[in-house]
Amino acid sequence: MSDKDKVYIFDTTMRDGEQSPGASMSVEEKIQISRVFDDMGIDIIEAGFPITSPGDFEAVTAISKGLKNSIPCGLARAKKKDIDACYESLKYAKRFRIHTFISTSPVHMKHKLNMSNDQVIDAIKESVTYAKKFTDDVEWSCEDGTRTSLDFMCKTIELAINCGATTINIPDTVGYSIPEEFAKTITHIKNNVPNIDKAIISAHCHNDLGLAVANALAGLSAGVRQIECTINGIGERAGNAALEEIVMAIKTRNDLMPYDTGIKTELISKASKIVSNATGFPVQFNKAIVGKNAFAHESGIHQDGMLKNRETYEIMSPESVGVKQTSLVMGKHSGRHAFKDKLTDLGYTDMTDDVIQEAFGKFKVLADKKKHIYDEDIIALVDDSLIVDNKINAINLKSLKVYAGTGEPQRAEMTLDVFGDIKQTTQTGDGPVDAIFKCIKELYEHEVKLSLYQVHAVTEGTDAQATVSVKIEENDRTTVGQSADTDTLVASAKAYLNALNKMLIKREKKSLSGNIEHQKVKGGV
Ligand code: KIV
Ligand code: ZN
Repeated sequence: MSDKDKVYIFDTTMRDGEQSPGASMSVEEKIQISRVFDDMGIDIIEAGFPITSPGDFEAVTAISKGLKNSIPCGLARAKKKDIDACYESLKYAKRFRIHTFISTSPVHMKHKLNMSNDQVIDAIKESVTYAKKFTDDVEWSCEDGTRTSLDFMCKTIELAINCGATTINIPDTVGYSIPEEFAKTITHIKNNVPNIDKAIISAHCHNDLGLAVANALAGLSAGVRQIECTINGIGERAGNAALEEIVMAIKTRNDLMPYDTGIKTELISKASKIVSNATGFPVQFNKAIVGKNAFAHESGIHQDGMLKNRETYEIMSPESVGVKQTSLVMGKHSGRHAFKDKLTDLGYTDMTDDVIQEAFGKFKVLADKKKHIYDEDIIALVDDSLIVDNKINAINLKSLKVYAGTGEPQRAEMTLDVFGDIKQTTQTGDGPVDAIFKCIKELYEHEVKLSLYQVHAVTEGTDAQATVSVKIEENDRTTVGQSADTDTLVASAKAYLNALNKMLIKREKKSLSGNIEHQKVKGGV
């Protein structure tokens, strides 16, 4: 145990992060993400907003059943039915947190809630007291805190603590504050709320002015001891404070911020990839800590310095966040045993034999096609097999031939297995990918909007595997499909089918949430 002050890391990737337009994740993806977060040492995982949809309810339930160390948490408005939904989905965990919130700023109270100060006070009393009946661990947030009068905020905080809140979260909901001001707000709370020593103060900062991480860290110096954040900084509008930046800033500048987060930073890169894959949100190349270029050195002067001593241009090592230097791994003569060892090395420790077998088969095929196989290739293969392991393949690609090039309309010939029926078609299109997607639409009639098509090369070289991501939308449902192959067009067809298969499951899925009445919460939070 470290003797430094503990800073609790509260991850809200699957709640606030999922509120980014288009960032929806399936229940299976959330479960996989929660396992990585649990291994990473994240203290509290806000797994969803259970009242809002059967999917959220189901995800919070599944996550609360599976966590080994992290505390699961659900979000609730100041309403009994929201708190009931939290309890019903969290009750499987030996310890859980209910996070309830209400707006306290004049603009929110007047225009969003249409409530007076006194009505908000009553709602706080009722909701926190009610949540406390279900768990000792209650967090209360004053939404739009940074645009709330300090006097009223202090009054509401004192009340929430008296009613049993043990964590008080100060949200900069609209990303309006600046570091000096945010720190002053925390200092004011510490000096003016008489019972504040009975609660942990938390910061929840949005990034509208690009200041989310700076504000949260300024809060730390004034007494914040929990930071709410998301992997890759995803979240409403410009996002939330990025977990990886908060944690690595504290670790790298521990001389000035002598706190301990307890996060296994070596798992940061894995967490970033899994969240990016699930949401279909790419990570910008120059993103701090997890961007592709975060540890790349291009200019001659920098490369020269690096060769002499890494500290010339590196303030933290790539290994410390789990970025392995691209390494040549295995070839076509490598056996299943070596493959399995490699997977363990790459952090895939809890995979079923079926998935390993599936990935090993793909590895052998790849090794025949591609001279050099890198760690990244293996990761892409395994992620592809994990998708298969989700058993969501009602429609499967049997064969694909594509005629592309100059002069002629591009043409695709495709055979699909559609729920056991083998079907064939040929379509032309505006480019080969268009022809492929038209084949799928012809063989399985459906109407969805394609909102993202993205190709990314897994490694360098013309024989690199491509990972293709496809996002489709139907009414208010969104799914992301992915696939990797050395043939970009095959990967494109498979990624589209993967998204479509997930959409079919979403359509079919019945509520598992008993008689909870789910509500669309307008305007986000
Ligand atoms: O940004 C916000 O105010 C929130 C609260 C629900 C904590 O997400
Ligand atoms: Zn938020």
